[in-house]
Amino acid sequence: MSAESIQAPQSDDDVVVRLTDVHKAFGSKQILRGVSFELLRGRCLGIMGGSGTGKSVTLRHIIGLMRPDQGKVEVMGRDLAEVTREELQEMRKRIGYVFQEGALINWLTVAENLALPLQENTKLSKSEIESKVQEKLALVHIPDAGAKFPSEISGGMKKRVGLARALITDPELILYDEPNAGLDPEISRSINHLMREVSETLNVTSLVVEHRIECIKTVADEVIFLYDGKVHVHAPVDEFFHSQDSVLKGFLGI
Ligand SMILES: Nc1ncnc2c1ncn2[C@@H]1O[C@H](COP(=O)(O)OP(=O)(O)OP(=O)(O)O)[C@@H](O)[C@H]1O
Ligand SMILES: [Mg+2]
Repeated sequence: MSAESIQAPQSDDDVVVRLTDVHKAFGSKQILRGVSFELLRGRCLGIMGGSGTGKSVTLRHIIGLMRPDQGKVEVMGRDLAEVTREELQEMRKRIGYVFQEGALINWLTVAENLALPLQENTKLSKSEIESKVQEKLALVHIPDAGAKFPSEISGGMKKRVGLARALITDPELILYDEPNAGLDPEISRSINHLMREVSETLNVTSLVVEHRIECIKTVADEVIFLYDGKVHVHAPVDEFFHSQDSVLKGFLGI
């Protein structure tokens, strides 16, 4: 593994996510075999790796939807093995998740989809919720989409709505699972620039699972390559794409 030039944290307060020796198996299939990495406040970390290597599984550990068989998952200073259900619910409000499948509710309008997490988790009034919804739609550059239903909008626009929904509670950490999936190259580029813009304007910490190189180059500060259940390479984005590691070079096709 190469870890050259990855900044060491100044203090534990700077560490938003830390996985230490995480193992996870499903039946006899061992997926994670000792995954360790740290993500510092304000940074964007890309996760690359072949299909089925456990990228989505890693994200699910970070929001506490899965528990490791062995090892430790710390998020925003808390060891997830030690938090109660209620504390985990509270923590999840500070984490935005952009799902691989989009996951918008088809029978609700775009605005209603965005309002839902606020109705369920906050005491904001109807008009406060409306103005937050409008603010996030403007942030992702679709101010007029609120009244539309998911079936009426394009794949690229659905991704924007998914991003707006993930941002609706003003999270400190945002997790993206394949934000480019199903998009053509031009729309992908606009989504990637939007993600970069969002992380810069909101100064949010983010983690992006994506196998498209262009996406990772646009949005990530540093990148992890998952291979054989472990972090095989962890390097700043420029070094990552010039790595001499033969397995990574094979994966990237360089
Ligand atoms: N809840 C589960 N029960 C059983 N097996 C699971 C479960 N979740 C994931 N797996 C298995 O774990 C492996 C890793 O899955 P994961 O979804 O993390 O892959 P991935 O790296 O995200 O791949 P892709 O790029 O295709 O999305 C797969 O073989 C998958 O079938
Ligand atoms: Mg996945």
